[in-house]
Amino acid sequence: MDKHIETAAARFAALIASQLKRVENMAAQPDFIDYAKLDKLIIGVCGGDGIGPSITDAARSLLEELLHGEAVEFREIAGLTIERRAECGKAIPDDTLEELKACHIILKGPTTTPRAGDPWPNIESANVAMRKELDLFANVRPVKVPMQGIDWVFFRENTEGAYAVGSQGVHVTDDLAIDFTVTTTGGTERIVRQSFEYAKKTGRKRVTAVTKANVVKATDGKFLSIAKEIAAEYPDIAFDDWYIDIMTAKLLDEKRRRDFSVFVLPNLYGDILTDEAAELQGGVGTAGSANIGKRYAMFEAIHGSAPRMVEEGRAPYADPTSMLRASVLLLEHIGRAEKAQLLERALDICAIEERRVTVTGRDTGCTGRQFTEYVLETVGKIKGGTL
Ligand code: IPM
Ligand code: MG
Repeated sequence: MDKHIETAAARFAALIASQLKRVENMAAQPDFIDYAKLDKLIIGVCGGDGIGPSITDAARSLLEELLHGEAVEFREIAGLTIERRAECGKAIPDDTLEELKACHIILKGPTTTPRAGDPWPNIESANVAMRKELDLFANVRPVKVPMQGIDWVFFRENTEGAYAVGSQGVHVTDDLAIDFTVTTTGGTERIVRQSFEYAKKTGRKRVTAVTKANVVKATDGKFLSIAKEIAAEYPDIAFDDWYIDIMTAKLLDEKRRRDFSVFVLPNLYGDILTDEAAELQGGVGTAGSANIGKRYAMFEAIHGSAPRMVEEGRAPYADPTSMLRASVLLLEHIGRAEKAQLLERALDICAIEERRVTVTGRDTGCTGRQFTEYVLETVGKIKGGTL
């Protein structure tokens, strides 16, 4: 038995060392890149797997239209498919990672994450790997349902918590498995600050932290106490905190949910709560997400590659809205606020208000391509003043 403990303790020691190194690297990082100072902005485009290439292509065509004539290069990055990742046995093949690192911004379609029983080797999710490799610490996920007064923005911590060493847990014996969850001071400060700065910039009046600090005392306790400290620096913004269990219930409370505005939360709770929130908006297919770091930023859907849709021949009917919403976030992030508003307005008209054609995910609705044409046309009408 002692042998098992020794082996597990050695693994744990190595994990601690790697996390301490990460803390050091984080502290040494330069501040946010200034896109306005670049001669040329490079946007790397990875289509991913399943329905990924077609919905990413939709987003690319809208972005090309909106950024036409600007110093922006769109660069196709082909290596992020499940076939290639399986062949290399890596979440992101080395050469693909180098190509990604030569860009400023990445537009990424959903990628397949192998599950037990799949024909693929058990490699780590490409999303999770990219978030860690490029240190994309803030996962920003807006959800709005105007008819119900819902207008939420989630700031999900994206590099720590249960995901930091999620694929490095330890099987101590056949009967005992242990995983680890990680909270650092620097990692928490930067996400909480990001959420408050966003609230300040956009005139939002409330930030809500979500943890399970009553039970997960060391890591969630740390997250919450740092959130409280930082909240004190923003006296004009109300701060409150909720536990994740009751928070999932409150998102369904029609009388109270409209009062929430900005949320900040550790990785796993953010993963779960944003799927619930997106469902209220019309499904995960309608939600986009920004993954923001100081040097890089990546924009993606919040859903997966939908292999079932591909198997059933429904890929052309996949809804590109998630990637188009992600493109709004991309435009905002690179400082093209007016263009972001234009695309957002067009999407609201096409997906919520006018809905001249709708995507249903099957041949009962229009194809993703037809919907994209509709959005493009609507952008043109808004620009031309006829809408
Ligand atoms: C998400 C996804 C990923 C996550 C999966 C694909 C690993 O669910 O972006 O929310 O858990 O972060
Ligand atoms: Mg998720």
